[in-house]
Amino acid sequence: MPKEKPELSEAIKKKMAGKTFEKNPIQGTKYTIAISSAKGGVGKSTFASNIALALKRIGCKVGLLDADIYGPSLPKLLSINEKPESDGKTLTPINKYGLQCMSIGFLTEEQTPMIWRGPMVTSAIKTFTQKVLWKDLDFIIVDMPPGTGDTQLTFSQEIKMDGAIIVSTPQELALQDVKRGIKMFDKLGVKILGLVDNMSYFTGDDGKKYKIFGEGGVRRTAEEFDKEFLGEIPINPEVGKCGDEGKPIAEANPDHEISKIYLDFAKKIKSTYL
Ligand SMILES: Nc1ncnc2c1ncn2[C@@H]1O[C@H](COP(=O)(O)OP(=O)(O)OP(=O)(O)O)[C@@H](O)[C@H]1O
Ligand SMILES: [Mg+2]
Repeated sequence: MPKEKPELSEAIKKKMAGKTFEKNPIQGTKYTIAISSAKGGVGKSTFASNIALALKRIGCKVGLLDADIYGPSLPKLLSINEKPESDGKTLTPINKYGLQCMSIGFLTEEQTPMIWRGPMVTSAIKTFTQKVLWKDLDFIIVDMPPGTGDTQLTFSQEIKMDGAIIVSTPQELALQDVKRGIKMFDKLGVKILGLVDNMSYFTGDDGKKYKIFGEGGVRRTAEEFDKEFLGEIPINPEVGKCGDEGKPIAEANPDHEISKIYLDFAKKIKSTYL
């Protein structure tokens, strides 16, 4: 699958140089929060869907916007197979598990060739942020694609983002990209709420913690860039299973130890803003 370019390319640097951008808020929400990481496959979409559901559980009104035009996850993660209603000018988000949801995956066939998706990125983001009838929300949680490409740039420059949460595994390889992502948000003036260490360890049947991807890397990166370290989420096969079944763990099993971790993150986000 083609990923967005991992580096801040010369073209992007040029686009950014010396410009100030007028940022539009998304109508229908009080706050917009991005779940990001320049690295792919670290659990952004899983975190985004679970944190949205945890926020709902503590009484917030929440929207979930899948900003991954190349590889949308929301249709599968929340098991949504219908198309949103439209009057030709606006789109109505799809309600699932009490969340207002939107994804390019609701609008295009899964097989839409990748070569057609590139030019769709900016226009799709504009549609999702300006033409979707989000209603009375406290938060829109934006599930970002991997990379530091056009999607991140369009969001950071043109849309009022109230915060970004960076998700990473503790692996050095992931952290290299994460550092690039942090620098990009810093440069574009998007407040980073903090870093989450996802898949930090696995607890075996023997009760021992196995730190498969190394230890402490995300916390160290947070310290290095003077950002808050928000906490750890261990590897748990239930997380993947629930995602595959289209009902994230925070919804499927709210009393699970992992769901309680998402709930703690959600309480922190709620108390930061509301
Ligand atoms: N804490 C966890 N425990 C077990 N599995 C997890 C955990 N977090 C994420 N996963 C699994 O890791 C895989 C990647 O997760 P996900 O799709 O959320 O990553 P992503 O960062 O959004 O990927 P992409 O960069 O492709 O958008 C999925 O199979 C998911 O179920
Ligand atoms: Mg994803």
